[in-house]
Amino acid sequence: MTAKTVLDSLKPLPPDAILGIMQLYRADDDPNKVDLSVGVYQDESGRTPVLECVKRAEADVYAAEDTKSYVAIAGNAGFNRGVEALVFGADHPALADGRVATVQTPGGSGAVSVAGHLVQRAKPDARVWLSDPSWPNHRQLLGLAGLSLEQYPYYDRSAKSIDFDAMVGAVSGMRGGDSVLIHGCCHNPCGADLTAEQWQVLADLCERHGVVPFIDIAYQGLAEGLEADARGVRLMAERLPEVVVVASCSKNFGLYRERVGSVSVVSPDRERNRTVASNLSNIARGIYSMPPDHGAAIVARILADAELRTLWTEELDEMRDRLNGLRRLLADKLAERGTPTDFSFIANERGMFSFLGIGREQVVRLREEFHVYLVESSRINVAGINQGNVDYVADAIAAVLSD
Ligand SMILES: Cc1ncc(COP(=O)(O)O)c(C=O)c1O
Repeated sequence: MTAKTVLDSLKPLPPDAILGIMQLYRADDDPNKVDLSVGVYQDESGRTPVLECVKRAEADVYAAEDTKSYVAIAGNAGFNRGVEALVFGADHPALADGRVATVQTPGGSGAVSVAGHLVQRAKPDARVWLSDPSWPNHRQLLGLAGLSLEQYPYYDRSAKSIDFDAMVGAVSGMRGGDSVLIHGCCHNPCGADLTAEQWQVLADLCERHGVVPFIDIAYQGLAEGLEADARGVRLMAERLPEVVVVASCSKNFGLYRERVGSVSVVSPDRERNRTVASNLSNIARGIYSMPPDHGAAIVARILADAELRTLWTEELDEMRDRLNGLRRLLADKLAERGTPTDFSFIANERGMFSFLGIGREQVVRLREEFHVYLVESSRINVAGINQGNVDYVADAIAAVLSD
């Protein structure tokens, strides 16, 4: 027997659930197979393309680049200013007052991590409240930052809509200094977004109870449009002295593997803003030292160049229109089949994800009998549907619901 080593104390962990389903999908050679499990945008032909605006900006970046030396702990300053204007709106009072500190991060995930460490450092006994359900990596990233995590009710699985009264009740019971993590738009995994009125109510509540909004806007532009999707962030940053905002360029710029994101923190005044900025940089230094530059340089170029920016918004509109069109199409196709469940909620939700709201057994039947792959929670990625497979998918869902 070999002597026990330090690594022997580690327990093997199961692979990520979605990766396991992707493996099953790859191994399936049925010609009708459909993958609704992946977490990335796909076009009509099932590809996740490099946007044309990215291709062009990338060529400009390569032509202009004359060093691979480090940029800065806070990343590309042009990117940070561009993203602030995109998320908050160029004329936002918090920006005009110099109360926003932004750091470029490795993806939205890096942003959640840096923001989590900042919250933990500022208030070690703070609790961060996650929506039920939320993106599973929120728990992982914020837990590793040492925060204690709680859950507030959000999506009512039987009503297939937000249980806003329950959410209001939970926020009203939070302690001053707690943070509430709210999805800015395109809620992952349920697709059910807050209305403008609900954001107002939440702003009132956060103000009254001293709760800090921690907003994750990973899909800006993919619900209703770049401006409308940011209304919650903008409102909170107008009404409250302290707001944490994490953003990602993975989906709306299609820059997934380049790892581009940002964390912006709104402070009550300039002095505290300087303190927050120094702490954000210090935390980033302690986790990964410097963010990757390539993707951020591309985004900075697109946002600064009128022509590229127009091209980007057109490509983004196309992705969003496709997603919203597919939502209506799938809901209509299911209605045509007279399914026992009313699926019209799919057309009203936003972004890439929705829960079908079917049982685990039916999810397994979809996979094993019909080669339609979704994650166990019945979350689907709407972008996996196309004109060629929508009837097949609707038939399969109707079949597993009928017997
Ligand atoms: C809600 C949410 N936040 C953040 C992210 C982070 O994405 P990335 O780290 O790839 O930018 C994702 C990605 O799926 C997400 O769904």
